[in-house]
Amino acid sequence: MDQKVADLLNEQINKEFYSAYLYLDFANYYASVGLDGFENWYKIQAQEERDHAMLFYQYLQNNGQKVTFEAIAKPDKELKDNMAPLKAGLEHEQYVTSLINDIYAAAFEVKDFRTMQLLDWFVKEQGEEEKNASDMITKMELFGTDAKGLYMLNSELGARVYSAPSLTL
Ligand code: FEO
Repeated sequence: MDQKVADLLNEQINKEFYSAYLYLDFANYYASVGLDGFENWYKIQAQEERDHAMLFYQYLQNNGQKVTFEAIAKPDKELKDNMAPLKAGLEHEQYVTSLINDIYAAAFEVKDFRTMQLLDWFVKEQGEEEKNASDMITKMELFGTDAKGLYMLNSELGARVYSAPSLTL
């Protein structure tokens, strides 16, 4: 495997674990204000991010590449109100999309079709992640300022259940 592609994939393991840590921090915020449905949604989101990390890890292992783990950064988004995590979440997913696109571009440059095929799943996944994050902001804007609306939204998010990623390696 091209060294630059391998390095970017290795870095992405760290970014995905950071995402899990960030979303756990969001869950922790919502727990502190008593919104257990939002807490549930982000705990499941954190699990999905760990899955993403493990997919990159396994892909590198399957292709005989050495994996190196680096320190995971402290989640440092300022969570000043119930909307803040949602906006930070969308911003973060847009950033992750740019990272996936960068790896794709590097793989494309060296005709690494296998890595491009792996990344096809992530390109689609990022589209879903950004839409989910954006939908949550819209719903919060529409209903979140009213106590009954917030209660219903919290109940809706509390119904989310974890499902394993559709991609297997
Ligand atoms: Fe692993 Fe939320 O992208």
